[in-house]
Amino acid sequence: MISAVTFLITLPFIILYLVKNAYKRHPNFPPGPPSLPVYGAYWIILAHSFNNLADAFLKLGRRYKTGMVGCYLAAFPAVVVNDPALVKEMLNREELDGRMDILLGRLRSWWKKLGIFFVDGFFWHVQRRFSLRYMRDFGFGRRCPRLEAVLEQQARDMVDMRISGPKYAAEEELVKGDLIHLPHFFAVPFINGMLHVFGGTTLPRSDYHELWTLARGALLFQRSSDDLGRALCLTPWIKDLFPGWSGYNDLRKGNFYLQDYFSKFVNEALESHDEGHDRHFVDMYLTKMKEEMREKGKTTYSVDQLVMTCVDYTFPAASAVEQVLSFLVERLLLQPEVQEKVHEEIDRVVGRARPPSLDDRKNMPYTEACIREVMRCESIVPLGIPHRAMLDTQLGQYDIPEVGMLLGSCMSCTEACIREVMRCESIVPLGIPHRAMLDTQLGQYDIPEVGMLLGSCMSCTEACFREVMRSGAYLP
Ligand code: HEM
Repeated sequence: MISAVTFLITLPFIILYLVKNAYKRHPNFPPGPPSLPVYGAYWIILAHSFNNLADAFLKLGRRYKTGMVGCYLAAFPAVVVNDPALVKEMLNREELDGRMDILLGRLRSWWKKLGIFFVDGFFWHVQRRFSLRYMRDFGFGRRCPRLEAVLEQQARDMVDMRISGPKYAAEEELVKGDLIHLPHFFAVPFINGMLHVFGGTTLPRSDYHELWTLARGALLFQRSSDDLGRALCLTPWIKDLFPGWSGYNDLRKGNFYLQDYFSKFVNEALESHDEGHDRHFVDMYLTKMKEEMREKGKTTYSVDQLVMTCVDYTFPAASAVEQVLSFLVERLLLQPEVQEKVHEEIDRVVGRARPPSLDDRKNMPYTEACIREVMRCESIVPLGIPHRAMLDTQLGQYDIPEVGMLLGSCMSCTEACIREVMRCESIVPLGIPHRAMLDTQLGQYDIPEVGMLLGSCMSCTEACFREVMRSGAYLP
């Protein structure tokens, strides 16, 4: 009886507190949904579109009549930018180039802030600049006949896998007669390409199963979270209460494959490292690390950071590109008239007598347009990777508090992007943002690679590919 009375007396105060809290906002913060207990506006966002958060934010933007949706996700102020001009501005302003210090970033790297994706400031600048500069010497982000020859061989192996059938046990899981399991079927050239850049080596066909394990790990990691990091990043304590349900176990498992692989990879290079003779990117990094330690007594370079650098560059190579290609195959199955035109272009430019090469690219605008278009239609990161405001600032007409999470919606850019494509001018409609620079080098690295692979699949194995398409490939 006493507890019921106490409850009734305190209830109005609890309600008052919750209502006040729901509408508490920073001054001049963008409009958006109120905060509910524990997860703030996350409940409302999920209720608007459970499986597509970018779509949820577009709906919320319309509802609150704003190009910038502001809300609170548990303790974080978050702003999602739905206006193409402001997305472009956001991606190009240095003070908005920070990253959130969230559990997702830390669990990958022994609870430290390491790698490229989840770091910022001086550390990020130094590590990113070094990796891009010296990976380039080994073919990353530019034309490189040696790397291209390696990729061509990988594409031939894949074609052979389909035409002559599986040669090793692991291949049987991916190629079963007419049935080809996507997306991992496409993973090999991209991961092997990265291994070649890092260590001047690739895994032979008999070891492709190791590459597929990395690809499965990368995809498991990606699928265990969402654009906002899911409940786990908003309330990290749930990892101890619900490690399975919260996605924590799968994130760790997915990450483990890549982290473990590159720990061994780097340690092997370290054992045989000779400062006077850099064999590949990993050697160059180790030399720099030792040099700085000798000369300055301190350094941002470390073995753990090198492992995570390799993980971060391989992660998208092992997951993003194969997904793009799989979506493209899906589109080609659904739109046979487009498939016909791609075939026609490949037959005309490459022919049947040789595999495609990157030199063919300039003569294959239709195939390239299809690859770019599928990335627009089926964006695999529709809200990008969250940025963080590193100081109190302004964007558009609103104030953004320091530590605020910022996301730029590429779904909102679709219309602007279509206009650009129609004018056939820019193929980088959003300009070249700081963080995304690696991806705009897609133009020199992975898009041609995607094209080479698609070309290989479609021209060398025209019959097979048609069959695969007829039988209906297994799509993700
Ligand atoms: C085709 C598929 C790809 C898509 C859609 C994609 C998309 C993105 C996006 C949206 C970002 C965040 C940019 C930002 O925070 O402003 C990003 C960052 C990054 N991407 Fe990609 N990416 C792709 C492929 C790749 C590939 C193949 C690699 C490497 C081989 C790569 C390496 C990276 C790295 C290292 C970052 C972190 C950049 C930084 O924080 O400095 N990506 N990507």
